[in-house]
Amino acid sequence: MCQFRPETAADHAAVEAVHRAAFPTDDEAALVAALRESDAFVPGLSIVAEADAGIVGHVLFTEVSVSGGGRTGRDAARPDAALTLAPVAVSPDRQGEGIGSRLIRHGLDACREAGYECAVLHGDPDFYSRFGFEPAAPYGFSHPFDLPDADFQVLWLTDEENDRIGGRVTYDAAFLDL
Ligand SMILES: CC(C)(COP(=O)(O)OP(=O)(O)OC[C@H]1O[C@@H](n2cnc3c(N)ncnc32)[C@H](O)[C@@H]1OP(=O)(O)O)[C@@H](O)C(=O)NCCC(=O)NCCS
Repeated sequence: MCQFRPETAADHAAVEAVHRAAFPTDDEAALVAALRESDAFVPGLSIVAEADAGIVGHVLFTEVSVSGGGRTGRDAARPDAALTLAPVAVSPDRQGEGIGSRLIRHGLDACREAGYECAVLHGDPDFYSRFGFEPAAPYGFSHPFDLPDADFQVLWLTDEENDRIGGRVTYDAAFLDL
């Protein structure tokens, strides 16, 4: 059994250890540490999965801005409360048990409750489509990374279908240092 809750300062080392174990390099652990110190950080949206043995998963949502460059030029309709999901990790010895999926769903509920309009990410569509993520480029979203558009996805967090207009996503500098 796991509990899902916002991280506290006491979790920082364990959270970074999960990322170091789950990813091939320390980049994601360093990214989490850098984002915690940034203006993009939202304390309630850094969420851990905690089992009896301790922290076994973590997902981080941080703020991004969305500006001109969308399809219609309707600035007023572009999301002004947007997030990016990155990174997410589950300890290797606990992967494949559903913890990552439950952690992401819990996090997305917290994003909705906090009033955010959308979340974007880069990742495998086979995994993220199960949460409702869909290709972001057709909405007019663009990103500054040398990554395939097929992996660039958005999840709309409100029911306002008329307002689904993308734009250029600007990320915290911590992402550009990766
Ligand atoms: C991705 C991750 C967070 C999923 O957590 P999890 O607890 O293993 O996930 P769940 O048990 O809820 O779901 C397992 C599903 O995720 C898929 N999956 C696992 N890692 C994946 C990856 N890197 N890319 C795509 N799909 C992945 C599995 O194939 C499985 O799919 P299925 O349900 O169709 O069989 C975890 O596997 C992990 O930490 N991976 C290493 C770090 C990473 O790649 N993070 C995401 C970067 S986009």
